[in-house]
Amino acid sequence: MTDTLATWGGWEPAIRDDPFGHFAEARTRCPVQRVRLADGHPAWVVLGYDAARQALGDPRISKDMLAALENDDDVVAEGLPGPEFSRHMLNVDPPDHTRLRRLVSRAFVPSRVAALEPAIQGIAHALLDELDLAGAGAPVDLVEGYAYPLPFQVIGELLGIPHADRPDLHAWFGVLLTGWTGDPPAEAVEASGKIVAYLRELVDAKRRSPADDLVSVLVAASDDALSTQELLSSLFQLVVAGHDTTASLIGNGVVALLDQPGQFQALRTDPGQLPGAIDELIRFTAPVPHATFRVTAEPVTVGGVQIPAHEQVLVCLGSANRDPGRFPAPDVLDIGRKRGQNLGFGHGIHYCLGAPLARLEARVAFEALLGRYPGLRLAAGRDALTWAHGDGLVLRGLVSLPVILGPGGRRG
Ligand code: HEM
Repeated sequence: MTDTLATWGGWEPAIRDDPFGHFAEARTRCPVQRVRLADGHPAWVVLGYDAARQALGDPRISKDMLAALENDDDVVAEGLPGPEFSRHMLNVDPPDHTRLRRLVSRAFVPSRVAALEPAIQGIAHALLDELDLAGAGAPVDLVEGYAYPLPFQVIGELLGIPHADRPDLHAWFGVLLTGWTGDPPAEAVEASGKIVAYLRELVDAKRRSPADDLVSVLVAASDDALSTQELLSSLFQLVVAGHDTTASLIGNGVVALLDQPGQFQALRTDPGQLPGAIDELIRFTAPVPHATFRVTAEPVTVGGVQIPAHEQVLVCLGSANRDPGRFPAPDVLDIGRKRGQNLGFGHGIHYCLGAPLARLEARVAFEALLGRYPGLRLAAGRDALTWAHGDGLVLRGLVSLPVILGPGGRRG
């Protein structure tokens, strides 16, 4: 194995905080290239829009992580949470994928998602009330107090996690998702163990007394259509996929709008523009900068480059979404941009199942925040902001976002 491969991920802070110039430079050199990941494994990173879309939709590129680990292909680091949590829809191919996605989809039918709007509004305004009281004109952390707890509370509602249990679960996921490169630290292993034990207990409780929530639906299906491992994996994946992503969109989106006061004000005066703006904020701020694990099941040509069988493929959504061949003036935030089918929620059979919920949460979150606080501003210089998440591959969110809410209102 040659060591002349460029390293991808695990970047120094300057690149991690603003990776787009780095992506553009790599994409211009070659839209599909072989790299070495920060965990030591080689991979093919796909940077151009057309190539990324093709890779995401190609059935010859597998998502079966367990098979890759069992084949001993040495294409991926096991990391956490390990096999116990690895049989969810994002880590399998059809027909298992079809079966698992169909079961979980029941929670995401449009009527069920739309019915969550009043609850999400209640959560958003209650969090802002708390921040308002805590801040009283002084800086408050919008990530800790708003962007992060909002989607966590929503996923708690959807799954039927009792209110009293949420703080512990929130804290354990916080430790687990802080991010690391290489071997997981002891506290992450401990947090993972606590989450496993908690989800097992939750499943037992819902089996004893079912309710109108997703855990109960999945428990009911688990007798014939779902193994225990698949059930636990699916719950775990929903919590992970459902909150850190949306939290990052809210935090990153606020910064992008504060950078462009004209667009901030335009959304305040016309919140009807929010749905389009949210797509643009996803494109522009890349809350999920790379898609998850993929491996070639056979040789595949992507973007004119032949990738041999059993090689890891890493699709860089953050780069594809700034490909000037697809998006004119890609480095400009333009909330009125024609949509252009950005790949921020993925593409193909693994397209984000939670996209309608994420869009609803983000719309409500921005509506409440912008509506109540017209003078919202950063509490410190723009350079003081830090984006983090271990190797910087799958999640891109702020460590904290100190802001001054400014004179504002109680609930609008
Ligand atoms: C801004 C917020 C979000 C973003 C940017 C996002 C992004 C993505 C992306 C890029 C994928 C595809 C990954 C791949 O193909 O490797 C995905 C899949 C998925 N997401 Fe999201 N997501 C968000 C919010 C949510 C929410 C709120 C939920 C659920 C509560 C959710 C549940 C899922 C699920 C279940 C999948 C797997 C779909 C499958 O494998 O068929 N996501 N998401």
